[in-house]
Amino acid sequence: MCGIVGIVGRAPVAPLIVDALKRLEYRGYDSAGVATIDHGRLGRRRAEGKLVNLERRLADEPLDGTIGIGHTRWATHGVPNETNAHPHFSGDVAIVHNGIIENFAELRAALIADGYEFSSQTDTEVVAHLVTRELKKELPPVEAAHAALRELEGAFALAIMFRGEEDLIIGARNGPPLAVGHGEGEMYLGSDAIALAPFTNAITYLEDGDWAVIHRDGMEIFDIDGNRVERQKRQSVGTSYLVDKGNYRHFMEKEIHEQPEVVSHTLAHYLDFTTGAAKPFETPFDFAAIDRLSVSACGTAYLAGLVGKYWFERYARLPVDIDVASEFRYREMPLSQKSAALFISQSGETADTLASLRYCRREGVPISAIVNVRESTIARESDGIFPTLAGPEIGVASTKAFTCQLSVLASLAVRAAAARGTITREGEAALVRQLSETPKLINQALKLAPQIEKLARELSLYKDVLYLGRDTSYPLALEGALKLKEISYIHAEGYAAGELKHGPIALIDEKMPVIVIAPHDRIFDKTVSNMQEVAARGGKIILITDAEGARHATVETLDTIIVPDAPEIAAPIVHALPIQMLAYYTAVFMGTDVDQPRNLAKSVTVE
Ligand code: G6P
Repeated sequence: MCGIVGIVGRAPVAPLIVDALKRLEYRGYDSAGVATIDHGRLGRRRAEGKLVNLERRLADEPLDGTIGIGHTRWATHGVPNETNAHPHFSGDVAIVHNGIIENFAELRAALIADGYEFSSQTDTEVVAHLVTRELKKELPPVEAAHAALRELEGAFALAIMFRGEEDLIIGARNGPPLAVGHGEGEMYLGSDAIALAPFTNAITYLEDGDWAVIHRDGMEIFDIDGNRVERQKRQSVGTSYLVDKGNYRHFMEKEIHEQPEVVSHTLAHYLDFTTGAAKPFETPFDFAAIDRLSVSACGTAYLAGLVGKYWFERYARLPVDIDVASEFRYREMPLSQKSAALFISQSGETADTLASLRYCRREGVPISAIVNVRESTIARESDGIFPTLAGPEIGVASTKAFTCQLSVLASLAVRAAAARGTITREGEAALVRQLSETPKLINQALKLAPQIEKLARELSLYKDVLYLGRDTSYPLALEGALKLKEISYIHAEGYAAGELKHGPIALIDEKMPVIVIAPHDRIFDKTVSNMQEVAARGGKIILITDAEGARHATVETLDTIIVPDAPEIAAPIVHALPIQMLAYYTAVFMGTDVDQPRNLAKSVTVE
């Protein structure tokens, strides 16, 4: 992942680079670094861990210079220490990199044979040495960089700077995103437009294979063969302020509490509550004409898609194939020309999801995406987008983006059902009315916080937790387990409740609480049977249900969390809240870094 920044500016750039890196810390926080050129001197400061460590280092040892590059790292090759932190230097070359150089082992061996010495374990350092090797052949910097780029395989966004060239940064993209920002006598480079938002909103996105030669007064873009290419300059709508936590302890807590509002905005974007109809928004395909929908996504976005599958199949009778994108991209699925592809991504930059999208592009099916970042690569490469109106999500563990993705999927399912004639006009109006209650219900669910906080104290004492659910509560069980392990580091697994007897039942004892998500729905009784099976083996049950479910659950529980009664279509969105809060408060008791849990990153732009 990693975030990269470059500035060819007029004033000292180190503080500006740090400011931009703050906006990119969601991409990784294992280490950070800045390099500048000041009167012919190449200087750098690097620090292990969060950006705040780099800021301290810079306060003690400031860096001058009006040209510089910066990096915040999510480690792939080499442990996250200062030596492996970017920028990497080789002779007169300084470089920052996001991605993975896949042929780095052979390049490294060849460079070592040529006498180059490596000071880090990173794949990035080979790029710096490659450029130096070309410079030694008397190539000018721009040509040396181009020659080096031609040797690289894999995924990269790069910024390259040269001692002796105080008006030149080279940016290159193959895979991970890279944006060039246009200023007045200053130019910028960044992993996304939000990083550059305080400086400019005039942005040019590089496309795969592009590399840009950037000077203070402008830039030129070339393809890998060295031909000039034109890329559009756009006005970015990225927000320039750094979102703050308000009165909350963590971004995650704040984002959990924002859900009534953002879910309301998202639903209102797709549904007309006055007429009781799904709005006639643009789609790149006709729901009535397709015979399958292929959905791919990663992480929490994938689990939102899994809930969506139940809705599309139930209400619109539209078969849905759903895959984690890292599998879909390689499994060579044949796609019928009557099908359509849907991708779900908060960031719109996830490498596997993007690769799956490109596979579908090659297969010639219409492509749409549910995205939170409207200027992202996935948004730009889709035929049509369905935005989630969640606003910036900062906590690495997705919360409000998830419920907004569910809101879009539910709305699309209603729209598809109406288009395919699988619901009547009255049926459509009823579903729209039921969905319109969701913001109120999730607002009420937030009031469960004190009970859940108390329960979390107990949960934090366990090492393993099992989550069970059926139907749309099955993806929620997976999401509950994912949230808990991501931020509390407690081992957790989610299972379809009916699968209990095919494996996880062997694990049941008093040391592993079983969290059962079971609204009082059409298959509630089946889940009660599974709870009986757990109870009969001494397992401790935490039941998340509604009032009706609590009345009919005939098992003893460690605790029962009663969420507001919700109509069937709204229930998964409402039940998501206690799951998020339970993970959040447990992590708080465990004392973990809730917003930036270890080893994770918010945007995963590598495989
Ligand atoms: C990472 C994040 C998750 C997210 C997943 C997919 O793993 O930590 O919160 O669900 O990537 O990200 P996307 O931006 O594609 O939704």
